[in-house]
Amino acid sequence: MSNYHIKHLEEYYQVYRKSVRNPEGFWEEIAEEHFLWRKKWDNVLSWDFSKPEVKWFEGAQLNITENCIDRHLATRGEKTAILFEPNDPKEAAQHITYNELHKRVNKFANVLKAQGINKGDRVCIYLPMIPELAVSVLACARIGAIHSVVFAGFSSTALSTRINDSDCKMVLTSDGSYRGAKTIDLKGIVDEALESCPGVKNVLVAKRINSDINMVSGRDQWLQPLLDNASEHCEAEIMNAEDPLFILYTSGSTGKPKGMVHTTAGYMVYTAYTFKNVFQYRENDVYWCTADIGWITGHSYIVYGPLVNGATSVMFEGVPSYPDFGRFWDIIQKHKVNQFYTAPTAIRALAKQGAELVEKYDLSSLKVLGSVGEPINEEAWHWYNDNVGKRNSPIVDTWWQTETGGIMISPIPYSTPTKPTYATLPFIGIQPALMDENGDELKGNQVDGRLCIKFPWPSMARTIWGNHQRYKETYFSAYENKYFTGDGALRDEVGYYRITGRVDDVIIVSGHNLGTAPIEDAVNEHPAVAESAIVGFPHDVKGSALYGYVTLKDTGESRNHDNLRKEINQIITESIGPIAKLDKIQFTSGLPKTRSGKIMRRILRKIAQKDTGNLGDTSTLLNPEVVQEIMDNVL
Ligand code: PRX
Repeated sequence: MSNYHIKHLEEYYQVYRKSVRNPEGFWEEIAEEHFLWRKKWDNVLSWDFSKPEVKWFEGAQLNITENCIDRHLATRGEKTAILFEPNDPKEAAQHITYNELHKRVNKFANVLKAQGINKGDRVCIYLPMIPELAVSVLACARIGAIHSVVFAGFSSTALSTRINDSDCKMVLTSDGSYRGAKTIDLKGIVDEALESCPGVKNVLVAKRINSDINMVSGRDQWLQPLLDNASEHCEAEIMNAEDPLFILYTSGSTGKPKGMVHTTAGYMVYTAYTFKNVFQYRENDVYWCTADIGWITGHSYIVYGPLVNGATSVMFEGVPSYPDFGRFWDIIQKHKVNQFYTAPTAIRALAKQGAELVEKYDLSSLKVLGSVGEPINEEAWHWYNDNVGKRNSPIVDTWWQTETGGIMISPIPYSTPTKPTYATLPFIGIQPALMDENGDELKGNQVDGRLCIKFPWPSMARTIWGNHQRYKETYFSAYENKYFTGDGALRDEVGYYRITGRVDDVIIVSGHNLGTAPIEDAVNEHPAVAESAIVGFPHDVKGSALYGYVTLKDTGESRNHDNLRKEINQIITESIGPIAKLDKIQFTSGLPKTRSGKIMRRILRKIAQKDTGNLGDTSTLLNPEVVQEIMDNVL
């Protein structure tokens, strides 16, 4: 028997050693015993990071939805698979059982087929956190269509870029969404986006807010009548292990967003195994991850990982502040949540509201607390531990990425002693390496470097959609034969890892990955703007916030700076989404540049962070005088 469920630290080390000494043997044993295969593999792993090419379980055939749903029906048919908690607490929660999920996914899958969607076609899903989102993801997987979920907070421009990049044939959306006391016109955003997406032939619209929307004849249809008429039986498409399961976009430091491609078998095995262990999920536990399915956390740890394990996964439509800041704790009490997985930015926002709001609720069901998306600062860690976990529920600070598909570094609760701000130990099968400036691996402990992974793991992204060369350059070129994460990390005296943050031009704002280049492009679209540079600065709730330095074309023009700031943020909202708005905008007569014309972001970053004690040598700059001006006017 494989050690599917790790229960103490000795066992972790033992299994870890086994997974590293013989990765193929290890993953084969896990895959053999815990999943439903239509055909087993011929070869567990083949890989070559120089191409790069990675294949897991080659030759195997399966359908992930048979693993998520069908195989539970005999034993867990009436168990709740998805527990939907609506935005408005007065609206009843929905307990969608595995039996019901089976019916709903099959019906949806039949609708997709009837609309002409075939295996391998891309379907864009732009839906709020309502059951149709999870169901449509699974319906795509059922028929072998590749889903590309776009977070429903992205703007129409961001949406159309993503639709066109992967050439989606269809968009699934809703008449609108609830967000606390507000409603958002999602269909209007889709209509705008589709003005520049000639490849989209069909739009299916779920009804959520009952708003009176415009339906384009010949293109748009209401979803419900189609579902009502569809059969409950849909044979699962048999997929090869390495067939793409989904595309999910993530920001890079330059250029357009990268459509990370995840494939079927390895992704399934790894997300299921990590879910079971990182959350110590037991039958009858109620697990809740507060992420949106529009992000990788929702894909792997609301939908696939939990459902493959036959878990009950809570799906929350709303926001932590509605109707008040006690909402999370109210949901934990109401549904007796056992594992709660959220982001540091949410923890900081809730901590600001004081502990009284937490104390009103019975949180005694909690067994494990999770954190993901950005480094968790010590204060937030302690607040979470003291007030939510009552020092009784270990915190799993889970480090991973859209690209990694699953959790890579994390404590195993009740096994790994936790340490504030440390993601602690590599998960089973994960071989991290810290690299120095010369490209050499730092051996031993108490070292600080750039975080790489030196051996493939089953759920790694296989490519960037339509651009394998970019995949190679971004992740496999910085260090030979290693996957480069873009993060810095240190390893302490016992081998625990602490992630220190991005080492590239990606800034993590409220747990959202934002590349500076596309935001600068948006700012530069403003007719009055000559040039801009965006950096991050520390923010007590968001972790990092965005600081923009902007030079104007005509500095003599006495335009109202506050209006300009509003206009710039409006352009950003339209081209990316409100999450990318700048918190501070400083107008300056120039940006510090090297003699070759490169903007010195290092200096701008230090000024924005009010860390100007050691700016380094500025004398080699083309325009050193501008540095003083910027420092004098810093916001
Ligand atoms: O910088 C790391 C940070 O988030 C980045 C990945 O972002 P994304 O692809 O959007 O996926 C987020 C959810 C998995 C990483 O490169 N990050 C994620 N988790 C942590 C973290 N930084 C520190 N600690 C974490 N636990």
